[in-house]
Amino acid sequence: METELLVALAADAQTEKGPDAKPEPVLLVADEALKAAAAAVLTGGEFKAGANETLLMHAPAGLKAKRLLVVGLGKLAKIDGNAVRSAAGTAVRFAKPRGIREVVFLLPFSELPVGSVARAAIEGALVGDFDPDTYRSDRKDKSIEQFSLVATEAGREAAEAGFAEGVILGESQNFTRMLVNEPGNKLTPTILAQRAVEMASENGLGWEVHSTEKIKELKMGAFWSVAQGSEEPPALIVLRYEPEGVSEGPVLGLVGKGITFDSGGISLKPGENMEKMKYDMAGGAAMIGAMRAIALLKPQVRVVCVVCAAENMPDGKAQKPGDVQTAMNGKTIEIINTDAEGRLVLADGLLYAKQLGATHLIDAATLTGACVVALGMINAGAFANNDESYAKFDQALAVSGEKFWRLPLGDEYAEMIKSDIGDIKNTGGRWGGACTAAEFLHVFAEDTPWIHLDIAGMAWVENAQPFIAKGPSGMAVRSIVEWVRANV
Ligand code: BES
Ligand code: MN
Ligand code: ZN
Repeated sequence: METELLVALAADAQTEKGPDAKPEPVLLVADEALKAAAAAVLTGGEFKAGANETLLMHAPAGLKAKRLLVVGLGKLAKIDGNAVRSAAGTAVRFAKPRGIREVVFLLPFSELPVGSVARAAIEGALVGDFDPDTYRSDRKDKSIEQFSLVATEAGREAAEAGFAEGVILGESQNFTRMLVNEPGNKLTPTILAQRAVEMASENGLGWEVHSTEKIKELKMGAFWSVAQGSEEPPALIVLRYEPEGVSEGPVLGLVGKGITFDSGGISLKPGENMEKMKYDMAGGAAMIGAMRAIALLKPQVRVVCVVCAAENMPDGKAQKPGDVQTAMNGKTIEIINTDAEGRLVLADGLLYAKQLGATHLIDAATLTGACVVALGMINAGAFANNDESYAKFDQALAVSGEKFWRLPLGDEYAEMIKSDIGDIKNTGGRWGGACTAAEFLHVFAEDTPWIHLDIAGMAWVENAQPFIAKGPSGMAVRSIVEWVRANV
């Protein structure tokens, strides 16, 4: 094949352990010419086929391709869609800085189902193509212009279907990342709402945007208590997906935290790393990105999305520790720490989603530092008041490949947020902070099947990886979409 860059995958077939066990890289291709071209380097010992390890050959003998890039998947016995997703991202991030604009990716010759591997590959490629340097004056667009997949003739149909889905998921995830990447001055609550509306109009979703007046009219005292401390008006963003002919069955409610900047408010955060708090709308952006994918994938189930967008600022009108606020359902909240603002906006968001008819809820939020302490930047936290709904989320994770770890709710945690002056307080002390925050939300989700995703540590990539740039990750988009599809 004539191409700038041909990408083939390899895995390590070595199964033994011990000091004498040497890696056995095998190329996952059927083509003899390709195998021959790579034979010498593969036996040479310098390439071990470790995960995302790369080996470049120029003008490979007997091939028409200008270059052959071999990307490792790790141990052969453990390869899965995730390994292929990362490898495709690695290939793209290898090509980008070298000015290579065209890539041909050979799907691995393996036992893995072609459709899901094709989907993972194009998702990985699109995610790998994203760079966050939007505002650099010398920014050169080095995006890959053409990325092709090669499958066997027998796998064509499955590969094409997987490819089409993967494009939707990957582009939606990047849409979310683009929003999350925007700084607070460029993406106020009002502008976030405008972006959501543009996306909704382009993709045939219903939408409504409300601000201060309506928020007060709806008696969203918890949401407003955060918004009142900023000069920037809040935005209550509602997106609707209503497939034709579906008038029965569940209504899925997607609720997102959209704090476009979190200074902490009067309980001001320390200056160090405060600039990162522009990504405190990542949960809301994940929901907006998920709605984009849902609009394009058209599952047969109704979905309503509510994003509560505001700035958390220490203005003269800002709320103070000790204040008591009343949420939309009349529950009173004692404010202990104005930096625990996410749960306040989500309280009214969850209630509003139910008012709009949601029978099943899922929320996403960069909610607690405690969740990052508990799980590191490896897993995001997940909570649920309903095992059946969570089972569907687990199913979704098997498809999305994203890492979430279920954490506990419980009456003992609920006890920790009882208030002396009102119904509940907005922090439960130092210990178990992710769980008490989840129990706070539980007060508003009540018995409606509900899943809460705490993506605080996972919405931003701290260290660049071979397959993804440093910056916004777009975490949760793919899992939310799959959860929606699991509910059809
Ligand atoms: N947005 C933060 C949580 C966060 C922390 C997101 C780190 C991303 C990375 C949230 O609003 C917050 O400030 N939470 C406080 C709650 C505390 C005051 C109970 C926290 O986690 O420290
Ligand atoms: Mn905060
Ligand atoms: Zn916050």
